[in-house]
Amino acid sequence: MAHAPRTYTGTPRNLALLARVLRGGGIVAVPTETVYGLAADATSRAACLRIFAAKGRPSSDPLIVHIASLRDLGRVAVPNAAALRLAGKFWPGPLTLVLPKTGAVPGVVTAGLPSVAVRMPAHPLFRRLIRLAGVPLAAPSANPFGYVSPTTAEHVRRSLGRRVGHILDGGASRVGLESTIVDLRDPGRPVLLRPGIITREEISRVLGVPVRNAGRPRGGNRPRVAPGQMARHYSPRTPVSLHASLRPAQAAKGPRDAWLFVSKPVGRQPVNVFWLDERGDLRRAARRLFAVLRDLDEGGFRRIRAELPPGTGVAEALRDRLTRAAG
Ligand code: TXA
Ligand code: MG
Repeated sequence: MAHAPRTYTGTPRNLALLARVLRGGGIVAVPTETVYGLAADATSRAACLRIFAAKGRPSSDPLIVHIASLRDLGRVAVPNAAALRLAGKFWPGPLTLVLPKTGAVPGVVTAGLPSVAVRMPAHPLFRRLIRLAGVPLAAPSANPFGYVSPTTAEHVRRSLGRRVGHILDGGASRVGLESTIVDLRDPGRPVLLRPGIITREEISRVLGVPVRNAGRPRGGNRPRVAPGQMARHYSPRTPVSLHASLRPAQAAKGPRDAWLFVSKPVGRQPVNVFWLDERGDLRRAARRLFAVLRDLDEGGFRRIRAELPPGTGVAEALRDRLTRAAG
Protein backbone atom coordinates (compact mmCIF):
# COMPACT_ATOMS: atom_id res chain seq x y z
CA MET A 1 0.00 0.00 0.00
CA ALA A 2 1.58 3.26 -1.10
CA HIS A 3 -0.18 5.76 1.15
CA ALA A 4 -0.77 5.99 4.89
CA PRO A 5 -3.79 4.06 6.18
CA ARG A 6 -7.10 5.83 6.73
CA THR A 7 -8.97 5.17 9.94
CA TYR A 8 -12.76 5.03 9.74
CA THR A 9 -15.41 5.29 12.43
CA GLY A 10 -18.37 2.93 12.14
CA THR A 11 -20.86 5.27 10.45
CA PRO A 12 -23.29 3.66 7.97
CA ARG A 13 -21.59 5.53 5.16
CA ASN A 14 -18.10 4.33 6.16
CA LEU A 15 -19.30 0.74 6.61
CA ALA A 16 -20.82 0.82 3.11
CA LEU A 17 -17.53 2.12 1.72
CA LEU A 18 -15.47 -0.55 3.50
CA ALA A 19 -17.89 -3.28 2.35
CA ARG A 20 -17.25 -2.11 -1.22
CA VAL A 21 -13.49 -2.35 -0.65
CA LEU A 22 -13.95 -5.93 0.59
CA ARG A 23 -16.25 -6.91 -2.29
CA GLY A 24 -13.65 -5.51 -4.67
CA GLY A 25 -11.00 -7.87 -3.28
CA GLY A 26 -9.31 -5.38 -0.93
CA ILE A 27 -8.20 -5.81 2.69
CA VAL A 28 -9.59 -3.91 5.70
CA ALA A 29 -8.39 -3.98 9.31
CA VAL A 30 -11.41 -4.63 11.51
CA PRO A 31 -12.25 -4.50 15.21
CA THR A 32 -13.31 -7.73 16.90
CA GLU A 33 -14.04 -8.46 20.54
CA THR A 34 -10.86 -10.56 20.73
CA VAL A 35 -8.15 -8.68 18.78
CA TYR A 36 -8.15 -6.58 15.60
CA GLY A 37 -8.24 -8.63 12.40
CA LEU A 38 -7.11 -8.10 8.82
CA ALA A 39 -10.11 -9.04 6.71
CA ALA A 40 -10.69 -10.08 3.09
CA ASP A 41 -13.36 -11.94 1.11
CA ALA A 42 -12.87 -15.55 2.23
CA THR A 43 -14.22 -16.86 -1.07
CA SER A 44 -11.60 -15.00 -3.13
CA ARG A 45 -8.14 -16.49 -3.50
CA ALA A 46 -6.68 -13.21 -4.77
CA ALA A 47 -8.12 -11.21 -1.85
CA CYS A 48 -6.81 -13.67 0.74
CA LEU A 49 -3.34 -13.65 -0.82
CA ARG A 50 -3.27 -9.90 -0.02
CA ILE A 51 -3.66 -10.73 3.68
CA PHE A 52 -0.61 -13.01 3.61
CA ALA A 53 1.41 -10.37 1.76
CA ALA A 54 0.46 -7.55 4.16
CA LYS A 55 1.28 -9.60 7.27
CA GLY A 56 4.37 -11.31 5.92
CA ARG A 57 2.60 -14.49 6.95
CA PRO A 58 3.78 -17.86 5.60
CA SER A 59 1.20 -19.56 3.38
CA SER A 60 1.36 -22.62 5.66
CA ASP A 61 -0.54 -20.74 8.42
CA PRO A 62 -4.33 -20.97 7.75
CA LEU A 63 -6.83 -18.15 8.31
CA ILE A 64 -10.02 -18.02 10.40
CA VAL A 65 -13.26 -17.45 8.45
CA HIS A 66 -15.79 -15.08 10.06
CA ILE A 67 -19.53 -15.32 9.51
CA ALA A 68 -22.39 -13.09 10.68
CA SER A 69 -25.18 -15.61 10.94
CA LEU A 70 -25.53 -19.31 11.65
CA ARG A 71 -27.09 -19.77 8.21
CA ASP A 72 -23.67 -19.03 6.71
CA LEU A 73 -21.92 -21.81 8.62
CA GLY A 74 -22.94 -24.44 6.07
CA ARG A 75 -21.61 -22.23 3.31
CA VAL A 76 -18.02 -22.65 4.49
CA ALA A 77 -18.00 -25.74 6.72
CA VAL A 78 -19.70 -29.07 7.32
CA PRO A 79 -21.13 -28.76 10.84
CA ASN A 80 -21.93 -31.62 13.23
CA ALA A 81 -24.12 -31.79 16.35
CA ALA A 82 -21.25 -30.89 18.70
CA ALA A 83 -20.42 -27.81 16.61
CA LEU A 84 -24.04 -26.64 16.60
CA ARG A 85 -24.19 -27.10 20.33
CA LEU A 86 -21.10 -24.97 20.97
CA ALA A 87 -22.25 -22.40 18.41
CA GLY A 88 -25.64 -22.21 20.11
CA LYS A 89 -24.00 -21.59 23.44
CA PHE A 90 -21.03 -19.34 22.60
CA TRP A 91 -21.74 -17.57 19.26
CA PRO A 92 -21.51 -14.77 18.57
CA GLY A 93 -18.32 -14.77 20.61
CA PRO A 94 -14.63 -15.64 21.00
CA LEU A 95 -14.82 -19.30 19.98
CA THR A 96 -13.45 -20.75 16.73
CA LEU A 97 -14.46 -24.21 15.50
CA VAL A 98 -12.37 -26.34 13.15
CA LEU A 99 -14.58 -28.42 10.83
CA PRO A 100 -14.37 -30.03 7.40
CA LYS A 101 -14.46 -27.28 4.76
CA THR A 102 -16.75 -26.82 1.77
CA GLY A 103 -15.76 -26.06 -1.81
CA ALA A 104 -16.59 -22.37 -1.29
CA VAL A 105 -13.37 -21.91 0.69
CA PRO A 106 -10.24 -21.68 -1.46
CA GLY A 107 -7.20 -23.70 -0.40
CA VAL A 108 -5.18 -20.56 0.31
CA VAL A 109 -7.43 -19.82 3.31
CA THR A 110 -6.85 -23.21 4.92
CA ALA A 111 -3.21 -23.65 3.87
CA GLY A 112 -4.33 -26.59 1.78
CA LEU A 113 -5.99 -28.39 4.71
CA PRO A 114 -9.36 -30.09 4.14
CA SER A 115 -10.63 -28.33 7.31
CA VAL A 116 -11.58 -24.73 7.99
CA ALA A 117 -11.59 -22.63 11.17
CA VAL A 118 -14.86 -20.67 11.57
CA ARG A 119 -16.09 -18.13 14.05
CA MET A 120 -19.03 -15.77 14.46
CA PRO A 121 -17.61 -12.63 16.08
CA ALA A 122 -19.57 -10.57 18.60
CA HIS A 123 -18.29 -7.08 17.75
CA PRO A 124 -21.33 -5.21 16.34
CA LEU A 125 -19.36 -3.20 13.75
CA PHE A 126 -17.55 -6.23 12.39
CA ARG A 127 -20.84 -8.16 12.19
CA ARG A 128 -22.46 -5.31 10.31
CA LEU A 129 -19.52 -5.18 7.92
CA ILE A 130 -19.70 -8.93 7.21
CA ARG A 131 -23.43 -8.58 6.46
CA LEU A 132 -22.84 -5.60 4.16
CA ALA A 133 -19.98 -7.32 2.35
CA GLY A 134 -22.31 -10.27 1.76
CA VAL A 135 -19.46 -12.80 1.95
CA PRO A 136 -17.69 -14.58 4.81
CA LEU A 137 -14.50 -12.75 5.74
CA ALA A 138 -11.16 -14.42 6.35
CA ALA A 139 -9.18 -12.57 9.01
CA PRO A 140 -6.04 -13.34 10.96
CA SER A 141 -4.93 -10.97 13.70
CA ALA A 142 -3.85 -7.63 12.18
CA ASN A 143 -0.21 -7.72 13.27
CA PRO A 144 3.00 -8.38 11.36
CA PHE A 145 3.60 -12.14 11.51
CA GLY A 146 5.07 -13.19 14.85
CA TYR A 147 4.44 -9.90 16.68
CA VAL A 148 2.01 -9.17 19.52
CA SER A 149 -1.67 -9.07 18.40
CA PRO A 150 -3.33 -5.63 18.20
CA THR A 151 -6.18 -4.69 20.53
CA THR A 152 -6.69 -1.10 19.28
CA ALA A 153 -6.84 0.61 15.88
CA GLU A 154 -3.74 2.54 16.90
CA HIS A 155 -1.80 -0.73 17.40
CA VAL A 156 -2.73 -1.70 13.83
CA ARG A 157 -1.69 1.69 12.46
CA ARG A 158 1.64 1.55 14.25
CA SER A 159 2.64 -1.98 13.37
CA LEU A 160 1.12 -2.59 9.92
CA GLY A 161 1.28 1.05 8.85
CA ARG A 162 1.31 1.49 5.11
CA ARG A 163 0.65 -2.17 4.44
CA VAL A 164 -3.05 -1.66 5.11
CA GLY A 165 -5.09 1.11 3.48
CA HIS A 166 -8.27 0.99 5.58
CA ILE A 167 -8.74 0.57 9.32
CA LEU A 168 -12.18 0.43 10.96
CA ASP A 169 -11.91 1.76 14.51
CA GLY A 170 -14.28 -0.01 16.89
CA GLY A 171 -12.56 0.86 20.16
CA ALA A 172 -10.36 -1.32 22.34
CA SER A 173 -11.03 -5.07 22.09
CA ARG A 174 -13.13 -6.21 25.04
CA VAL A 175 -11.59 -9.72 25.39
CA GLY A 176 -8.01 -8.86 24.42
CA LEU A 177 -6.85 -12.42 23.61
CA GLU A 178 -7.45 -14.35 20.38
CA SER A 179 -10.41 -16.74 20.29
CA THR A 180 -10.38 -20.21 21.80
CA ILE A 181 -9.91 -22.75 18.97
CA VAL A 182 -11.50 -26.20 19.21
CA ASP A 183 -10.99 -28.92 16.62
CA LEU A 184 -14.35 -30.67 16.19
CA ARG A 185 -13.58 -32.74 13.11
CA ASP A 186 -14.15 -35.75 15.34
CA PRO A 187 -17.14 -34.52 17.40
CA GLY A 188 -16.66 -37.21 20.04
CA ARG A 189 -13.06 -36.12 20.67
CA PRO A 190 -12.85 -32.33 20.83
CA VAL A 191 -9.28 -31.00 20.83
CA LEU A 192 -8.21 -27.63 22.24
CA LEU A 193 -5.91 -26.03 19.66
CA ARG A 194 -5.63 -22.64 21.36
CA PRO A 195 -6.88 -21.72 24.87
CA GLY A 196 -8.82 -18.47 25.26
CA ILE A 197 -11.32 -16.65 27.40
CA ILE A 198 -13.91 -19.37 26.73
CA THR A 199 -12.27 -22.05 28.80
CA ARG A 200 -11.64 -25.74 28.34
CA GLU A 201 -13.90 -26.39 31.34
CA GLU A 202 -16.83 -24.43 29.85
CA ILE A 203 -16.54 -26.30 26.55
CA SER A 204 -16.30 -29.68 28.29
CA ARG A 205 -19.43 -28.87 30.28
CA VAL A 206 -21.44 -28.09 27.15
CA LEU A 207 -20.21 -31.13 25.20
CA GLY A 208 -20.24 -33.54 28.13
CA VAL A 209 -16.79 -34.91 27.25
CA PRO A 210 -13.28 -33.80 28.24
CA VAL A 211 -11.48 -31.46 25.82
CA ARG A 212 -8.02 -32.82 25.18
CA ASN A 213 -4.84 -31.08 24.14
CA ALA A 214 -3.43 -31.50 20.67
CA GLY A 215 -0.51 -33.91 20.60
CA ARG A 216 2.88 -32.25 20.53
CA PRO A 217 3.71 -31.27 16.96
CA ARG A 218 6.50 -33.34 15.42
CA GLY A 219 9.14 -31.70 13.26
CA GLY A 220 9.67 -28.14 14.48
CA ASN A 221 7.35 -25.50 13.08
CA ARG A 222 5.12 -27.76 10.99
CA PRO A 223 2.49 -28.96 13.45
CA ARG A 224 -0.29 -31.41 12.65
CA VAL A 225 -3.15 -28.93 12.31
CA ALA A 226 -2.51 -25.74 14.24
CA PRO A 227 0.25 -23.51 12.97
CA GLY A 228 -0.84 -20.91 15.56
CA GLN A 229 0.87 -23.21 18.04
CA MET A 230 4.27 -22.35 16.64
CA ALA A 231 6.68 -21.73 19.47
CA ARG A 232 7.63 -18.15 18.62
CA HIS A 233 4.44 -16.18 18.23
CA TYR A 234 2.98 -13.04 19.75
CA SER A 235 6.52 -12.00 20.71
CA PRO A 236 7.75 -8.56 21.65
CA ARG A 237 11.26 -7.69 20.46
CA THR A 238 12.44 -7.41 24.06
CA PRO A 239 13.33 -10.86 25.44
CA VAL A 240 10.70 -12.24 27.83
CA SER A 241 11.44 -14.65 30.66
CA LEU A 242 8.82 -16.49 32.68
CA HIS A 243 8.62 -17.06 36.41
CA ALA A 244 6.38 -19.42 38.35
CA SER A 245 6.67 -17.09 41.31
CA LEU A 246 7.98 -13.58 41.36
CA ARG A 247 8.51 -11.27 44.33
CA PRO A 248 8.52 -7.51 43.87
CA ALA A 249 11.64 -7.26 46.06
CA GLN A 250 13.56 -8.95 43.21
CA ALA A 251 12.90 -5.94 40.96
CA ALA A 252 15.51 -3.90 42.81
CA LYS A 253 18.15 -6.40 41.66
CA GLY A 254 17.18 -5.96 38.00
CA PRO A 255 16.62 -2.23 37.54
CA ARG A 256 16.96 -2.45 33.75
CA ASP A 257 14.30 -5.19 33.51
CA ALA A 258 10.52 -4.75 33.53
CA TRP A 259 8.85 -6.92 36.17
CA LEU A 260 5.32 -7.87 35.21
CA PHE A 261 2.85 -9.20 37.79
CA VAL A 262 -0.72 -10.38 37.29
CA SER A 263 -2.01 -8.36 40.26
CA LYS A 264 -0.65 -5.24 41.91
CA PRO A 265 1.94 -6.17 44.55
CA VAL A 266 1.25 -4.72 48.00
CA GLY A 267 2.97 -1.51 49.00
CA ARG A 268 4.86 1.12 47.07
CA GLN A 269 6.54 -0.24 43.97
CA PRO A 270 9.62 0.86 42.04
CA VAL A 271 9.03 2.29 38.52
CA ASN A 272 10.07 -0.94 36.80
CA VAL A 273 7.27 -2.99 38.43
CA PHE A 274 4.06 -3.42 36.41
CA TRP A 275 0.83 -5.38 36.76
CA LEU A 276 -1.99 -6.51 34.50
CA ASP A 277 -4.84 -5.82 36.89
CA GLU A 278 -5.00 -4.02 40.21
CA ARG A 279 -6.84 -6.92 41.87
CA GLY A 280 -5.57 -9.77 39.73
CA ASP A 281 -8.90 -10.29 37.92
CA LEU A 282 -7.86 -12.68 35.13
CA ARG A 283 -10.39 -11.43 32.55
CA ARG A 284 -9.27 -7.85 33.03
CA ALA A 285 -5.65 -9.02 32.96
CA ALA A 286 -6.32 -10.75 29.61
CA ARG A 287 -7.87 -7.58 28.20
CA ARG A 288 -4.72 -5.59 28.96
CA LEU A 289 -1.99 -8.15 28.31
CA PHE A 290 -1.11 -7.32 24.69
CA ALA A 291 -1.28 -3.55 25.18
CA VAL A 292 1.01 -3.86 28.21
CA LEU A 293 3.48 -6.06 26.29
CA ARG A 294 3.59 -3.47 23.49
CA ASP A 295 4.17 -0.64 25.98
CA LEU A 296 6.92 -2.54 27.78
CA ASP A 297 8.48 -3.41 24.42
CA GLU A 298 8.82 0.30 23.72
CA GLY A 299 10.00 1.10 27.24
CA GLY A 300 13.70 0.46 26.59
CA PHE A 301 13.95 -2.45 29.02
CA ARG A 302 16.65 -5.08 28.69
CA ARG A 303 14.24 -7.89 29.50
CA ILE A 304 10.60 -8.41 30.49
CA ARG A 305 10.23 -10.73 33.48
CA ALA A 306 6.68 -12.04 33.68
CA GLU A 307 4.85 -13.95 36.37
CA LEU A 308 2.83 -16.96 35.14
CA PRO A 309 -0.59 -17.24 36.80
CA PRO A 310 -1.29 -20.76 38.13
CA GLY A 311 -4.52 -22.71 37.71
CA THR A 312 -7.17 -23.61 35.16
CA GLY A 313 -9.69 -21.50 33.22
CA VAL A 314 -8.57 -18.12 31.92
CA ALA A 315 -5.15 -18.62 33.57
CA GLU A 316 -4.48 -21.29 30.95
CA ALA A 317 -4.92 -18.74 28.14
CA LEU A 318 -2.74 -16.16 29.90
CA ARG A 319 0.03 -18.72 30.45
CA ASP A 320 -0.22 -19.75 26.78
CA ARG A 321 0.21 -16.19 25.48
CA LEU A 322 2.99 -15.34 27.95
CA THR A 323 4.79 -18.56 27.05
CA ARG A 324 4.54 -17.78 23.33
CA ALA A 325 5.74 -14.24 24.00
CA ALA A 326 8.80 -15.77 25.63
CA GLY A 327 9.36 -17.94 22.55
O1 TXA B 1 -9.74 -14.10 17.82
C1 TXA B 1 -9.31 -14.53 16.76
O2 TXA B 1 -9.39 -15.71 16.46
C2 TXA B 1 -8.68 -13.53 15.81
C3 TXA B 1 -9.76 -12.56 15.30
C4 TXA B 1 -9.27 -11.66 14.21
O3 TXA B 1 -10.88 -13.29 14.90
N1 TXA B 1 -8.02 -14.18 14.72
C5 TXA B 1 -6.86 -14.87 14.89
O4 TXA B 1 -6.33 -15.36 13.71
O5 TXA B 1 -6.34 -15.01 15.95
P1 TXA B 1 -4.83 -15.86 13.58
O6 TXA B 1 -4.54 -15.95 12.15
O7 TXA B 1 -3.91 -14.99 14.33
O8 TXA B 1 -4.87 -17.31 14.08
C6 TXA B 1 -5.47 -18.28 13.28
C7 TXA B 1 -5.06 -19.62 13.75
C8 TXA B 1 -3.97 -20.24 12.92
O9 TXA B 1 -2.71 -19.79 13.27
C9 TXA B 1 -4.20 -21.72 13.25
O10 TXA B 1 -3.60 -22.00 14.47
C10 TXA B 1 -5.69 -21.80 13.43
O11 TXA B 1 -6.17 -20.49 13.58
N2 TXA B 1 -6.34 -22.39 12.27
C11 TXA B 1 -6.87 -21.79 11.19
N3 TXA B 1 -7.36 -22.68 10.33
C12 TXA B 1 -7.14 -23.89 10.87
C13 TXA B 1 -7.41 -25.24 10.46
N4 TXA B 1 -8.01 -25.51 9.32
N5 TXA B 1 -7.04 -26.23 11.30
C14 TXA B 1 -6.43 -25.95 12.46
N6 TXA B 1 -6.13 -24.71 12.90
C15 TXA B 1 -6.49 -23.70 12.11
MG1 MG C 1 -2.26 -14.16 15.05
